[in-house]
Amino acid sequence: MNAPYSPGLLEQLQLRYAKGTAKMLIGGDWVEAQSGETFQTINPSTGAVIANVASGSDVDVDRAVAAARAAFEGPWAKIRPDERTRLLLKLADLIEANADELALLETIDVGRPIQFSRMIDVQGAIGQLRYNAGWASKIAGETTEISAPGEWFSYVLREPIGVCAQIVPWNFPLVMAVGKLAPALAAGCTIVLKPAEQTPLSTLRLGELVLEAGFPAGVVNIVTGFGRTAGAALAAHRDVDKVAFTGSTVTGKAIIDASKTNFKRVQLELGGKSPTFIFADADLSRAIPAAAMGIFFNAGQVCAAGSRLFVHEKVADQVLEGIVNMAKGMKVGDTLEGDTMIGPLVSAAQLERVTGYIATGREEGARVLVGGERIGEGGYFVQPTVLLDTKPDMRVRKEEIFGPVLCAMRFGDDEDIDALAGRGNETEFGLSASIYTQNISTAHKLARRLKAGTIRINGSGGVDPALPLGGFKASGWGRENGKAGIEAYTELKAVSVAL
Ligand code: NAI
Ligand code: MG
Repeated sequence: MNAPYSPGLLEQLQLRYAKGTAKMLIGGDWVEAQSGETFQTINPSTGAVIANVASGSDVDVDRAVAAARAAFEGPWAKIRPDERTRLLLKLADLIEANADELALLETIDVGRPIQFSRMIDVQGAIGQLRYNAGWASKIAGETTEISAPGEWFSYVLREPIGVCAQIVPWNFPLVMAVGKLAPALAAGCTIVLKPAEQTPLSTLRLGELVLEAGFPAGVVNIVTGFGRTAGAALAAHRDVDKVAFTGSTVTGKAIIDASKTNFKRVQLELGGKSPTFIFADADLSRAIPAAAMGIFFNAGQVCAAGSRLFVHEKVADQVLEGIVNMAKGMKVGDTLEGDTMIGPLVSAAQLERVTGYIATGREEGARVLVGGERIGEGGYFVQPTVLLDTKPDMRVRKEEIFGPVLCAMRFGDDEDIDALAGRGNETEFGLSASIYTQNISTAHKLARRLKAGTIRINGSGGVDPALPLGGFKASGWGRENGKAGIEAYTELKAVSVAL
């Protein structure tokens, strides 16, 4: 097996961050916050400080938005679609060339096992750029015959929305930042990006690569800082045309409220409580590992995590035993070792939140089949956990825990597809669902009845830059990725000429 990262790289990074504040990118320059304030980002595997980072606030946001506006009205407006394609492809190549460093940054800042930082964050970011690069030259308006009296020539322009604020969470910082940047840049928008305060480092390195790729100054600006300061100022800013956000439902509501200042466009991806259904005829050799990794991967800090399992009673004992064995057998621990499967939660706050939910579950009457405890003391590790005997109104069953905690339920032959769909749809969320059965009719009928933006049948994964991503109900507004994701960065303008 290859070494998990290049020798000496970790020391190089530590040296870099020991030199001083990690700065923000505004108008092509690396700057400190105007207040001079900084915050610390932590390695959640150890609790140690990695770097001091500029803590942006409303004045820094004002400067970044002004830089993005100037680039949008100026140099970026003159750049042709095929040049945008070239720049996006160049950025993808630069990320590929710096894959080792970006993966390691993600691992120390987020707490993701190194094998997944490579596979998910770095490869995912490259995939997003290469997919979206092609769209830059394929965004098209249309001509339309209209029925008004007289003779008319009517056409519809599809124009870039303008200056976009993109607010990213801490669970997949690099791939989410790039997944937001790439369609916006392909469509011709300019950007102020705010990474999460827990995980700013890979985004700042991305900013260096954006400049190296040759994007004009001000096209991409990065403001680091807290949600209540930098994030809130961006969401409320009167010269921001759109805000795209991924994170919690609570913050999603705050962003909707803040957007009212100027009726900016709002795109929201707000997590879920996604069901997995395993029927008696399922291929259990696929279903069991998928159900286990569906909730334990990234320590459950995944918007589309399969956090509720509905398993047919005929196979329930076998499935639960398989999941318990995986929970006990997976390597939880040092994220720098190549075979580690599960790392820590991202922060002390998240640790408190997840262990708090497990305690609440116990109080509400849930039974812990496996796991349920914190591991060690320095880092923020929690055991992969399965809860039984939950009821639909329990908090652990309704709310997004965002930790490695699965609620497992049985169903029998007395429950038809409508009843199962009802159970799948019982929460306020509607992001994703997974179905395991050999019966194609069962699979497709259930897929139609579930209120979820993404449905996977007989396989995990299935997240791709070509497929729309987003949710029904409280899981958000709009879709990222695919054609819909590009169009979400455009405005329509109908033009009619009386001939
Ligand atoms: P959060 O939603 O508060 O943070 C996400 C991003 O929003 C960060 O960049 C943060 O700085 C920013 N933010 C916070 N308050 C803001 C405001 N008023 N205006 C503008 N931006 C703001 O999430 P948090 O508190 O870190 O995590 C709490 C829970 O949220 C998690 O346990 C999980 O359930 C959910 N979550 C869901 C995610 C998803 O992928 N859907 C990602 C992260 C969190
Ligand atoms: Mg960190």
